[in-house]
Amino acid sequence: MSIIIVTGISGYIGGQVAVKLKDQGRQVIGVDTRPLPAHLEGKFDWFEQCDFDSDAFDKLMMEGKPDAIIHCAGTSLVGPSVTDPQLYYNNNVLNTVRLLDKIKDKFFWKPKIIFSSSASTYGNPIMVPCQEIDPAEPISPYGQSKLFIEWALAAYHRAYGIEYVAFRFFNACSADPQVRHGQEPNATHIIARVLESIRDNSDFLIYGNDYETEDGTCVRDYIHVDDIADAHARAIDVAVTSGVYNLGTKTGASNLEIVRLAEKVTGQRVNLSVGGKREGDPAMLTADPGKFVQVTGWAPKYNLEDMITHAWKWYTK
Ligand SMILES: NC(=O)c1ccc[n+]([C@@H]2O[C@H](COP(=O)([O-])OP(=O)(O)OC[C@H]3O[C@@H](n4cnc5c(N)ncnc54)[C@H](O)[C@@H]3O)[C@@H](O)[C@H]2O)c1
Repeated sequence: MSIIIVTGISGYIGGQVAVKLKDQGRQVIGVDTRPLPAHLEGKFDWFEQCDFDSDAFDKLMMEGKPDAIIHCAGTSLVGPSVTDPQLYYNNNVLNTVRLLDKIKDKFFWKPKIIFSSSASTYGNPIMVPCQEIDPAEPISPYGQSKLFIEWALAAYHRAYGIEYVAFRFFNACSADPQVRHGQEPNATHIIARVLESIRDNSDFLIYGNDYETEDGTCVRDYIHVDDIADAHARAIDVAVTSGVYNLGTKTGASNLEIVRLAEKVTGQRVNLSVGGKREGDPAMLTADPGKFVQVTGWAPKYNLEDMITHAWKWYTK
């Protein structure tokens, strides 16, 4: 039985990964600067409310000797990272480099690191679906912070033999299929926004309908959070070559498709209005996950209708 430490376990993705790892019979230790949400209390073997850059975390590491660190903790909003980048460089970059230093200098074994990177490392992609060999030119401090960590992981792997997998998630969405975990209220994600607008009978705004896409609205690659969790479990077990891996479905869905599917799943109408485009929003952003699929046999299990159905169950629980 493997022992895994999950940083950012109180968050959306860390929580779901941890639930999946427990389902698989592993020992899960979690840390987060926030308390565990009530619905996750008592589900893991140990939870410590602490920074991953702290003595308390180091103590847990030394006592637990985990086989892997699932590193989901981070500060992760694109817009705020532009107006206030300090936290992104400190919490994401500097703290993670210090964690790597400790693995090199302080801990006497080298756990594998599974790091939550992001599609934002691509910036405005030259073509879609994005492949890992495409240029990474992030346009926000958030994306830059993720790319810098990828570089640090690659350098520490080369120089000190630390094994890692950096997942570039595209749009993580939905909720645990058994409705045990999901996004917090008021998440900025489109599926969250549209479903909450249906539940609360409020308006839902689409940003722009004159993009060069089939129906004029932005196209994004949505991936079920439980498929992301499954990929993490495989990255622990399979001898994946250290490096960067996309996690997406390769197929995109437009904003309007999501609205129509949300109406189908819920049986209710969306109070839709259309606003102006947001600066820096590319028309299409999709990912080719082929590199990870080839090595591990992972494949997304859930389609968009499943994603909206599970999310709706979560929002109406
Ligand atoms: N949700 C997405 O669509 C998406 C897409 C791409 C990448 N990511 C990345 O995946 C990771 C998880 O995303 P999420 O959606 O679950 O975010 P989240 O905000 O729900 O969870 C992040 C958690 O990390 C914790 N945290 C932050 N700094 C910490 C620190 N120094 N020590 C301990 N805990 C700390 C926060 O309290 C929070 O609970 C993030 O790094 C994010 O950048 C998310």
